[in-house]
Amino acid sequence: MRTLILGSGGREHALVYGIKRDGGEVFAIPGNDGMEEAICENIGVGEFEKIYDFIKREGIDLVIVGPENPLVEGIVDFMEDRGVKIFGPSKVASQLEGSKIFAKNFMSEYGIPTAKFEVYDSSKRAISDIEGGKFSFPVVLKCDGLAAGKGVVISNDKKGAISIVLDMMERKVFKDAGEKIVVEEFLEGKELSYMVISDGENFVPFVPSRDHKKVFDGERGPNTGGMGAIAWESLIDDEVKREIEEKIIKPVIRNFPRKYCEYRGVLYAGLMLTREGPKVLEFNCRFGDPETQPEIFKMDSSLLEVIERSIDGKLGDFSIKWKKGCSLCVVLASSGYPGKYEKGKEIMVGNLDEDVKVFYAGVEKRGGKYFTSGGRVLSLTGIGTDSEDARKKVYSNVEKIYFEGVHFRWDIGEII
Ligand code: AMP
Ligand code: GLY
Repeated sequence: MRTLILGSGGREHALVYGIKRDGGEVFAIPGNDGMEEAICENIGVGEFEKIYDFIKREGIDLVIVGPENPLVEGIVDFMEDRGVKIFGPSKVASQLEGSKIFAKNFMSEYGIPTAKFEVYDSSKRAISDIEGGKFSFPVVLKCDGLAAGKGVVISNDKKGAISIVLDMMERKVFKDAGEKIVVEEFLEGKELSYMVISDGENFVPFVPSRDHKKVFDGERGPNTGGMGAIAWESLIDDEVKREIEEKIIKPVIRNFPRKYCEYRGVLYAGLMLTREGPKVLEFNCRFGDPETQPEIFKMDSSLLEVIERSIDGKLGDFSIKWKKGCSLCVVLASSGYPGKYEKGKEIMVGNLDEDVKVFYAGVEKRGGKYFTSGGRVLSLTGIGTDSEDARKKVYSNVEKIYFEGVHFRWDIGEII
């Protein structure tokens, strides 16, 4: 089996590791220098023709897509048209992540619980509604399109909200992503990531997980791509799990084909666990980053089998086996991240315990040494009997890794 993973971050390194564990040859485009298990080829994930040439040349049997952009741009349709076996939702299905308006309208139509919202294609109307008192505060403003995880802003007052509308729609801070916007009710509660893999009809859930988006301990500071994540069954009880599957996951998988087409691949529901029950903040059409790192580390089934069953429509009567306990990862980031960050710092890794794993992201290898080349440099992942045990395991190894300016959170997995 020759598998190609598209993407270059910690999520993709975890996918490489998961597939390699099952045997076979693993390739990555573009990958990163820390992916020692894979053969990397420096092609952009948006260069579909070049990727296709590589697939033919190398005799690739299966392609797994990491990031959302190529999915939303239709890589699955492109490759399937050419007879390539590829894992992920089609271009239309990926609209659930690619357009917040598409996702909100779909949820409204099928009664999937989410925040109350309004859609705007003109800043004048949005501002007039904000000024006219249509929304209570805080309020959440979202760009319709993909904005690299940055297109959501919360505002506490009218003045702030109006300035965000102008940033998004007039000053084009988020480029075309802000041509249309969603303004929605602020939901309170704990966040939860719920990922499933669907074969178009059936689905298998991953372990409930939670990422930590803020840069500093105690959920303070600006948002990042994620500073760590925990994957653990005990994050929710059976009743909440049932509610998520019955009211959110099933209605998507069952109704999507009625209106559009099959939804095959990962469906990631970003949820707020409110007092009225779980509500959807967003859908993603791909694996979460960094949630995938602890998920893959905890998985006790073959990742390759799960993915092949999804593509072949054979997930009915199948379930994923998981190692017991709580899995978590802590992200080590460059000085300055999530703002402008430093690069080119040598990474020193001491003698880590054998049962923890480093998943690399922003790294570069030169002369046999590793240097930082991105904001999120690597994540250290481990598993324990419960969250305290997992924290002990991971944090006792974190300080064996050093690069100048390194920073990370000390409270990953603490707030459960
Ligand atoms: P999204 O990309 O839609 O998941 O939004 C990014 C982050 O913004 C989420 O992880 C939440 O922390 C926050 N967020 C989004 N929508 C809401 C909402 N309606 N209420 C409260 N927080 C929200
Ligand atoms: N961890 C959030 C995301 O992958 O979108």
